[in-house]
Amino acid sequence: MSGKFYITTPIYYVNARPHIGHAYTTIACDAIARRHRMLGDDTWFLTGTDEHGQKIERAAQAAGKSPQQFADEVSDLFRSSWDRFGLSYDDYIRTTSDRHKRGVQALWRKIRDNGYIYKGTYTGQYCVSCELYVDGAEPGAECPTCGRVTETVKEDNYFFKLSAFQEKLVELYTGQPDFIRPETRRNEVLSFVNGGLRDLSISRSTFSWGIPVPDDPRHVIYVWLDALANYVTALGYGSNDTTKYEKYWPPDVQMIGKEIVRFHCVYWPAFLMAADLPLPKCIVAHGWLLFEESKMSKSRGNVVRADTIVDVLGVDALRYFLLREVVFGQDGSFSFDALVQRYNADLANGLGNLASRTLTMITRYFKGEVPYPSHAAHKPEDDAIAETARKAIADFGSYFDQFQFSKALESAWGLVSAVDKYIVENEPWALGDKQDEESRQRLATVLHTSAEALRIATALAHPVMPDSTAKIWEQLGLGDIKQFDFKQLAWGQLHLGTKLGEVKAVFPRADKSAIERMQKMEEQNNSTAPAPMTPATAVTPPAAAPSAPTMAAPAKPVATVPDGKISIDDFTKIELRVAQVKVAERVKGADKLLRLEVDLGTEVRQILAGIAEAYAPETLVGRKIVIVANLAPRKMRGLESNGMLLAASLEGGKPVLASFLEDVPIGARLK
Ligand code: MSP
Repeated sequence: MSGKFYITTPIYYVNARPHIGHAYTTIACDAIARRHRMLGDDTWFLTGTDEHGQKIERAAQAAGKSPQQFADEVSDLFRSSWDRFGLSYDDYIRTTSDRHKRGVQALWRKIRDNGYIYKGTYTGQYCVSCELYVDGAEPGAECPTCGRVTETVKEDNYFFKLSAFQEKLVELYTGQPDFIRPETRRNEVLSFVNGGLRDLSISRSTFSWGIPVPDDPRHVIYVWLDALANYVTALGYGSNDTTKYEKYWPPDVQMIGKEIVRFHCVYWPAFLMAADLPLPKCIVAHGWLLFEESKMSKSRGNVVRADTIVDVLGVDALRYFLLREVVFGQDGSFSFDALVQRYNADLANGLGNLASRTLTMITRYFKGEVPYPSHAAHKPEDDAIAETARKAIADFGSYFDQFQFSKALESAWGLVSAVDKYIVENEPWALGDKQDEESRQRLATVLHTSAEALRIATALAHPVMPDSTAKIWEQLGLGDIKQFDFKQLAWGQLHLGTKLGEVKAVFPRADKSAIERMQKMEEQNNSTAPAPMTPATAVTPPAAAPSAPTMAAPAKPVATVPDGKISIDDFTKIELRVAQVKVAERVKGADKLLRLEVDLGTEVRQILAGIAEAYAPETLVGRKIVIVANLAPRKMRGLESNGMLLAASLEGGKPVLASFLEDVPIGARLK
């Protein structure tokens, strides 16, 4: 029986351009949504962008743009990538849209009116990159999630009574074991919640880029409450038209990356319970896509754009690779070599070769019409293929519906290789050379069996590779694949005498030059100068964490040219950036040393500087300084310094900090 099916991706931060990490989640959801549509479910697939908060405000500032202009540009980049890849989302929610703001405020009021919001003061550490309150940490502590130095926050805030939901959450995880998948994540969440929940600050009052708190606009709503609400505001919650909400809520699948499990599996259900809203049926957390051994991320500078792969191998190759190569739920490495290897083995030589050899032989020997199998020429190996196909249909469905995409595809490709072997063993080309009736009948049976198996494999792969399977379907003479009722998919439905369409190669073989081309495209893209439409480049913090404490130490000479001067290339290796001091304090037992937390627009760093004799710490807070941002980290007095500030070093005198007469945005690079 068909039902409704509502699936969501996380909404992506607009501080970074889309890369294949984002594409991975969106493609997985797209494949699931397509399968549900194929099976007749009334499906709604939501994605969008997360545009508020301190991190976005700072990234916009670093790019010299207003937050709204910045968010508009990057949100468009995400959306146009998804359109270019043919992703079949039904709605694209932006958190700066009016419909969302209205919905979030309605949700706030509901939670408040139910008695779960109160006023208080938050003093503690905050990670701007993760937009996470880090409870119980000391100043200078690193974020447990991303490892960046946290900032000290002291603000009058509104609090959510998260602690009131501890028992209910535990009941949820134990009573509904599929609520969090996979099980490893569920166990992590369960032990986190069993460890005790503190109330959560859900507003900020020291910046303004967010949705105002109802009846108290001096505060903006905490960006995670704002963002999580997208899943319900997109359906019209808080508006006059709740048709979609009535139809699709609650979500059937909420797909996320493993780093945002706490927000989705603890805060989100608690917010929903507090607002008397039904809970999602399941939250599925996948692993990370790694590149060069670490999580692909903008700040590490190790991202690969999905566009590059799509340009060279096509979108279906990317979709297949991501869902086949990576065991869903676990981390998986991406490399161009593995991509091309998988493409050639499974697509060019696998499904593509099966399609072209089967269809070419039907064209050659039977004038392009699917031949009649003959009873007389029937052999047990034909039944074995039918049996493999039946098993593939059953296995594919059950693995896929358990989010085991790799295994699902493996079972469909088990059919592809079984038919390949069958063709090799039955040598239809040799049968085709013979003129006797028996050979002719056997040839018809072998090619019919092969074409039917090709049809089944193509149908199964359709949600994963919609474009190329639609082409093979047409070449099989079956018309528009979208018209096919997949619930009925079974062995033996290929109509005899079906006239084939034009036969063309769907997956041309890729050679080494494909890898080189993709590598070159990425290198070029990573080295392009910041441009208005490349905000990720503009705001990318240095890949290597910087260091060195005193302004007095001159920059070490980099590769010199003979007369003692350095080339412009050498100079550009030094990354000088404007930073703003957020926190300044003396280091115990070191008269000259100050510990600073400086904001680079995209991150806050801890640096140590030997300027304590010249500057009182409190005079530095808010001041814009210049730092060398790409020095390797260095430890001093047990503290790590991630950068070096610049100052004039006066003989016998005190250091004087480099500064500007005009106002400059935080994060701006000095060249
Ligand atoms: N804006 C929040 C989510 C709010 S949802 C209410 C956020 N945004 S994000 O831009 O950082 O996107 C995170 C998501 O993008 C991950 O949870 C994951 O789905 C996807 N990925 C981003 N990089 C990834 C990898 N390197 N590997 C796998 N998925 C990745 O967090």
